[in-house]
This record gives sequence, structure tokens and C-alpha cells, in this order.
Amino acid sequence: MKTTYETHVQTGILLNANERSLPLDDAIVQEIADSLGEIAFHRYPDSLQNELREAYAEAIGVRKEQLLAGNGSDQILGYLIGTFLGPGKALATLDPDFSMYDYYASSYGASVCKYPIDLTGDFHVEDFIAWAKEQDISMILFSNPNNPSGICLENDEVLQIVRAFPEMPVVIDEAYIEFADVPSCVYLTEDYANLYVTRTLSKAYGLAGLRTGFLVCAADNAEELRKAYVPYALNSFSMKAASIVLSHAKELLQYAEAVKARRHALYEQAKDLTAVHLYPSQANFLYGKSACKEQLLAAFAEKNIVIRNYAGTDAFRITIGTEEEMELIMEVLKTVEEQIR
Ligand SMILES: Cc1ncc(COP(=O)(O)O)c(C=O)c1O
Repeated sequence: MKTTYETHVQTGILLNANERSLPLDDAIVQEIADSLGEIAFHRYPDSLQNELREAYAEAIGVRKEQLLAGNGSDQILGYLIGTFLGPGKALATLDPDFSMYDYYASSYGASVCKYPIDLTGDFHVEDFIAWAKEQDISMILFSNPNNPSGICLENDEVLQIVRAFPEMPVVIDEAYIEFADVPSCVYLTEDYANLYVTRTLSKAYGLAGLRTGFLVCAADNAEELRKAYVPYALNSFSMKAASIVLSHAKELLQYAEAVKARRHALYEQAKDLTAVHLYPSQANFLYGKSACKEQLLAAFAEKNIVIRNYAGTDAFRITIGTEEEMELIMEVLKTVEEQIR
């Protein structure tokens, strides 16, 4: 039985998919509109993704040769899983972690071993390494910051794992790294051939609809992986629009800073509540648990707020949105707190 994928709700105040709550500035949208005439719609896209890779290389400080772009980082993750795993092989990841790892592993007939993490962020890297050494695995992959818990390993901890498994691909999914206090570990990819980092424009850059993500790795690996990669992963429009957006990287990343401040504020305001328990987070969301989750979900639904519910558990996840949205969230939390008193 293959793992299936659940579609997201797309109406209401959407705090369920860790998207950016605000649309792109009108001026950037206009710049994209003005560039339409430059696109050769009747031609296939540039399979080497030159313009886009140059723009991203500059934005994150790596070499263009170290990059491969995908239709969202999802596609890259699926490609890596398909490349390194297959029937009879296993992936090591964390529990909890991003559900698409199960989906892709299952679609390639591979199995998944999960290392349970402490949701407070108390991660013992030596224990993880010892556990992973005991598993019959062919690849390590986890999100950092972790979705959904929000915990984040330091670069030296990631490096310890990379060094402990020199023959194994270690893939770090940095979809949320722009919201973390820890810097990205992309700078390590030139020196460690078994390290692969995935990044996305869907979160901090606000381009979820454009489906643009990246693999960052040693240049030789990128060249090798490109040989068997789908030639037209990204369409010409997405590549042009993403390149324009990346030329505004600095201003766009100010949004990530604002999100970090709002995340901190919401966590602080909610930390003494008894109706919910929120965990500290390094991403653009807060993970929580509640013994009265049904009441909580009903209260959110009444305000037309959509959060991520982990059905069958007491867990949920709330994306950090605008200031007004966070005020509404706090209002709902307080209402439920009153109800249970
Ligand atoms: C941890 C993690 N990785 C990767 C992705 C995929 O992002 P995208 O395909 O939009 O780049 C997501 C999306 O929610 C995510 O949470």
C-alpha cells in the first residue's frame, strides 16, 4: 500500500501550510509582468536553468555549479530519494518530520526508519548517530528546522552527522532556514561530498505558487545528478519570475525577520496557558499540543482560521502570519482557555 497525500484546505485565514501570509509587493509583481515579453513561450525552457541558478547562487553565496533547481524542493527531495533509495533500501529520518519523505520513499518501494526527537529541542547528536549506525540505511534525510516541531540543529551538529557517515548521502532539508537563528549549512557542501542541502523559495520568499526549490551540493555531485534529471523541471515563466524575486532577496527576507519577532511574541503570550502547550520554534510556525484539541479546532473554525491538524493525535501546528492574524490566534487561545476553566 503506497503512502497517499492529503490536499490542503485553501479557503479561510490560511495558517496551515507555512506560506507567507502577505502577497508580493505590487512593484515586484509589476516587474515580473514587465518581463513577460522577454520569455520565449514557444521554446522549451533553458534546461541548464542558467539565469535562475545565477540569481540563487548570488543570493545564498554559493557557486552556480553547486545548484540544481526543481519544481519546488519537493521535486528535488523526490529525485534524491529515487536516486539513493529503492526496494529493500531504507531512509533514516526523524519523528516527527515532513510527511512527504514517507510519500516518496513509499513510491520508490523504500522503507523509513524514524528517530524520535524531544520536542523541546533537546537533541543529542551522539545518540542519533549511534541509533543510525544500528539501522540498515542508505540515506539520512531530515528537515532543519524541523517541520513540524520547529527544533533546529546547530551547524556543528549537522557536521558531526555528515562526518559520521562519509559514505552515505546526508540530506538536510532547509525549507525554513531563513527563520532560524542558526545559519544555513550550504557553505559546507563544497567540502563534504556526502552533504546535500535542499532549499525553497516557497516559504520566506513567498513563492509557493511558483514551485521553485533548489539542491545545493558539491559541484561534481550536481553535475552527476543533472545527467539523469528531468530536463525541463521548471518552466520559463517560473524561472524568470523567481530570478526577478531573487534580485529583491534582501527586502523580502525582512519578512522573515518580522515573522521571527511575531513567533517569539505569540510563544511568550501563550506559554502560560493550560489549554495548549506550544513548543519553541526556529521556523515560521509553532507546534503545539492540547488535551482539548477538538474545542480548539472548533474555536479556530468559528473565526474561519485554518491551522494544520494532526488527526488522531493531540497535536497541531500554526503558521506565523501577519500581526492581525496573530492577534486573532491569541484571541482564540484565550477563549478556549476561558472555556476550560
Ligand atoms: C520541511 C519541508 N520541506 C520541503 C517542503 C516543500 O516545499 P516546496 O516544494 O514548496 O519547495 C515543505 C513544504 O511545506 C516542508 O515543510
